[in-house]
Amino acid sequence: MIKIDQNKLPRHIAIIMDGNGRWAKQHTMGRIRGHKKGAQAVRTTVTACREIGIQVLTLFAFSSENWGRPDEEVNALMSLLEDYLDKETPTLQKQQIRLNSIGDIDRLYPLVKKKLLDVVKLTEQNDKMVLNLALSYGSRDEIVLAIRKMISDSQKGKLDIEDINQDLVGHYLYTDGMPDPDLLIRTSGEYRISNFMLWQLAYTELYFTDVLWPDFKKDDLLNAIAEYQLRERRFGLTSDQISGK
Ligand code: IPE
Ligand code: IPE
Ligand code: MG
Repeated sequence: MIKIDQNKLPRHIAIIMDGNGRWAKQHTMGRIRGHKKGAQAVRTTVTACREIGIQVLTLFAFSSENWGRPDEEVNALMSLLEDYLDKETPTLQKQQIRLNSIGDIDRLYPLVKKKLLDVVKLTEQNDKMVLNLALSYGSRDEIVLAIRKMISDSQKGKLDIEDINQDLVGHYLYTDGMPDPDLLIRTSGEYRISNFMLWQLAYTELYFTDVLWPDFKKDDLLNAIAEYQLRERRFGLTSDQISGK
């Protein structure tokens, strides 16, 4: 049994769910089977985070760059998302989880986008956890969009350049209103950020594991949280300052 301290939980966990393709290869299956198995790991992780008491869980499910994958794989990922929304909505309701999405959802297939927005609306009063799905998400695109909106607001006289500061930039991002991730987990042994939450990860604790996403279990999550709890977050200060000595 992996022990974690309930008083030092990360408020926001973000996960780059990577390794579905390699999992499938290991099991001599096609990549799509790997994504299906990955969807199972999503279900387990969402429930585990809810049980542990995490406030926000962000899952990187589909990047803006992933649109460049073969059509067959993109189609399969879109229908898996649709399937997930169909099947998981009762669980989200039962567990009082609010669904939110970040990313350019206008690029999603129209039916998938509609289902997504329906579930977002349906769950909007749920207050036990936010499940934040990053779909068609790219951090640089998000920042470009924010800059465009700021310039447009400034031209309309709604924004004074003098008022632009870190907080204000945060309001122009998809994650407006959410705390920055405290812990980022990336599976599959890749040590990169892949255009994910570049602004929001400024002081996030990073955790990398070799486990492939379809194999990721509650214990892997607990291990990541336990490791996070051993870290000293200094935010640029000295250790003595942080411990109050
Ligand atoms: C992550 O697994 C899922 C998505 C990016 C949609 P991958 O499909 O990237 O798996 P690998 O990296 O090829 O193993
Ligand atoms: C990042 O994984 C995107 C998601 C997990 C959705 P990728 O597999 O697309 O990232 P790279 O290409 O290895 O950097
Ligand atoms: Mg990958």
